[in-house]
Amino acid sequence: MSGTANGSLTLTLDGSNKSLSVPLRSGTIGPQAADISKLYGSLGIFTYDIGYGATAACESKITYIDGDEGVLLHRGYPIDQLAEQSNFLEVAYLMLNGELPNKAEADEFHKGVMHHTMLHEQLRSFFSGFRRDAHPMAVMCGVVGALSAFYHDSLDITNEQHREISAFRLIAKLPTIAAWAYKYNIGQPFMYPRNDLGYAENFLYMMNAVPAEEYKVNPILARAMDRIFILHADHEQNASTSTVRLAGSTGANPFACIAAGIASLWGPAHGGANEAVLKMLEEIGSPENIPAFIEKVKDKNSGVRLMGFGHRVYKNYDPRAKIMQQTCHEVLKELGIKGDKMLDMAAELERIALHDEYFISKKLYPNVDFYSGIILKAMGIPTSMFTVLFAVARTVGWISQWKEMIEDKTQRIGRPRQIYTGSPLRDFVPASKRG
Ligand code: SDX
Repeated sequence: MSGTANGSLTLTLDGSNKSLSVPLRSGTIGPQAADISKLYGSLGIFTYDIGYGATAACESKITYIDGDEGVLLHRGYPIDQLAEQSNFLEVAYLMLNGELPNKAEADEFHKGVMHHTMLHEQLRSFFSGFRRDAHPMAVMCGVVGALSAFYHDSLDITNEQHREISAFRLIAKLPTIAAWAYKYNIGQPFMYPRNDLGYAENFLYMMNAVPAEEYKVNPILARAMDRIFILHADHEQNASTSTVRLAGSTGANPFACIAAGIASLWGPAHGGANEAVLKMLEEIGSPENIPAFIEKVKDKNSGVRLMGFGHRVYKNYDPRAKIMQQTCHEVLKELGIKGDKMLDMAAELERIALHDEYFISKKLYPNVDFYSGIILKAMGIPTSMFTVLFAVARTVGWISQWKEMIEDKTQRIGRPRQIYTGSPLRDFVPASKRG
């Protein structure tokens, strides 16, 4: 651990003479954390923090978020600078290795990734085990998990070379698996990856090309896709990353851990929100229906949420949402789409929400998912593929966090406790004696 002990917190148990001095740990920036690891042993009590909203589950050097200020840093670099000046594979190198690569390192890393883009040929038939109309996220969970059946030569997580080759394989193969899930769904032939193309360009090529004719990826769309990947690459200890860390803490192989992360990301409260935003805009139908929809959201009994708004950490504008909105305008302009109805409705929804006391009082702002779906739809990507793209990008963050955890000598198997509210001890009642 590199966090430093800096001061302490004294806890006293009411009605007893027991107290405990709890060390406070400080990181580079951000709140201190009370190290309560000795609490149960000393005072016989647990802490209680539903959803771990105030619990630091680990130390990490990869991503820092200041939710109040709307700040997101990757290895210290602000997300807006990375999105505007870097590229996805360079950000992947930064997350995995801690520093931006020089030219030779960047070229080596690019070559390393692009030479693992193909899937084992036997995996092709794995796709045909799914129904044609299977949700592509179900296919992603299955196929990524199945990768562990193909790489017995590199599953020793204590071996640095095995960890590195697994990282390359996952970063390289996720776009191929994603594109093939899409092609399988629409009944078109799989397109093999092309190692002469950029990472995002190759993904769009595999999504849109057909064997029957030449296909050239629009460079503006390739750049937009690369930037969308950067914006989704990592985000501290969110639900899916915590899932990957918890699975990894048992020593499970990286393919199984990433498959678990994909399953966790699928939920509409998390990575599935971009798909849910488009469904919400389609249900609203037209701008004049927005006020009635907003009233429904404010009615607690309706169970309706403004998808793409709100965040567990950001109580300010999600910095990714601003960049996503700018990218949205660039893509629509490049595609010659004027007055996109979805974008106009999203902008009106945002304008109303940001001036409404309900949203202001609860500090609900647009998050990364609010605009991403509009861009992807304009690029011709079906709604069902939105969370798949999120998973492709987040694999870089997941595998970086997994690697950091495995290399942390202090890490141990994750095993939260509980407050038991069930029945106290009682004897079994034979069926003949039950009422
Ligand atoms: C992602 O963690 C990450 O970093 C995730 C992510 C990443 O990159 O990994 O950033 C990606 O998951 C972004 C979030 C995508 N999800 C959505 O857009 C779905 C809609 N948003 C919400 O469901 C909600 O905001 C969450 C799940 C994102 C956050 O939930 P919290 O922190 O548990 O917030 P909460 O439910 O406690 O809400 C606080 C209050 C509640 O009202 P009260 O009970 O206090 O009266 O705000 C309300 C909520 O009802 N609220 C909303 C709302 N989000 C919260 N009301 C209407 N619409 C919303 N979207």
